[in-house]
Amino acid sequence: MEKLLRGALLMIAKNKGAALLMRRYGMRFGARRFVAGETLNDAIAAVQKLNQAGKEATIDHLGEYIRNAADAENSANQCIQALEAMDAAGLRSNLSLKLTSLGLDLDRAQCERHMRTILQTAMKLNRFVRIDMEDYTHCQPTVDLYHKLKEDYEQLGIVLQAYLYRTADDLKRLGTAGTNIRIVKGAYKESEKVAYSKKSDVDASYETLVRRHLENGAYAAIATHDEALISRLEDWIRSRDIRRDRFEFQMLYGIREDLQDRLVRQGYKVRVYVPFGEDWFGYFMRRLAERPANLWFLLRNWRRK
Ligand code: FDA
Repeated sequence: MEKLLRGALLMIAKNKGAALLMRRYGMRFGARRFVAGETLNDAIAAVQKLNQAGKEATIDHLGEYIRNAADAENSANQCIQALEAMDAAGLRSNLSLKLTSLGLDLDRAQCERHMRTILQTAMKLNRFVRIDMEDYTHCQPTVDLYHKLKEDYEQLGIVLQAYLYRTADDLKRLGTAGTNIRIVKGAYKESEKVAYSKKSDVDASYETLVRRHLENGAYAAIATHDEALISRLEDWIRSRDIRRDRFEFQMLYGIREDLQDRLVRQGYKVRVYVPFGEDWFGYFMRRLAERPANLWFLLRNWRRK
């Protein structure tokens, strides 16, 4: 039942019509739990609070449903404004973005130009930029563009997904010393031809990838809310005497704040992913799919209003 619901939510997440319809409901449907708000000011205010609580942040402008070149340009401008705003406010934050929001599916050359403009601003302001990983169909073009840009921009990172069979090879090619990779389990609906479907296989792959990446001397952003997995990795990291400036923990805004706080108290670097923008629907649906119990909780509260 849970698997079916998860699949259905991930299908709906990709539906642009549903996204436009849901926009009308704004944050009232409960997305506010996972999204800082619709404006950059909302994101800046959220990051201020996180910084005060000892956490770093990465801001993401939600913009998956772009329709044309003007939308892609608007997304690029939002990224630049986010970099400038975090700098002006003196925040401990960097930027995450999705290549489709910059037009990867419309015009790859234009998408690359937007990336270069964003990265020039980031370089000037000494801020790090990370390219999120989207569904499997975007994986190769994302890795290709990352490779190309990385030749010119040091402060650039990428995400790899533990559920994909190809990730072990990607890590081998990308994960040299100094490379900063965020490792996640993977949030999209993928076929068994390309991805593990059993949770235990995904978890095992995750653990292996983080260990291998740290053994390579690279920097790992360990992005998961899985407390048992984090504990096993903490033990392993301690046993290998890996310094704390070689990795950080990352979690999503609004999820497992208790665990975030515990890791901060233990002296680890913790970074929270802070999404903002009007295109919150796909992101919100993926958060519901990760834990369908969230759906019942939201529906119950919605009906009471
Ligand atoms: P898992 O799903 O096993 O959950 C472990 C526990 O965490 C659950 O038992 C529950 O307690 C809690 N939890 C997890 N999700 C929850 C939710 N939605 N609501 C409430 N509790 C929840 N994916 C991707 O494909 N590309 C990307 O670029 C990114 N980027 C990214 C950045 C950061 C900072 C994080 C933390 C995650 C991503 N992801 C991602 C999402 C990732 O792939 C994955 O879907 C989620 O992190 C959920 O998986 P967990 O690792 O938390 O484990």
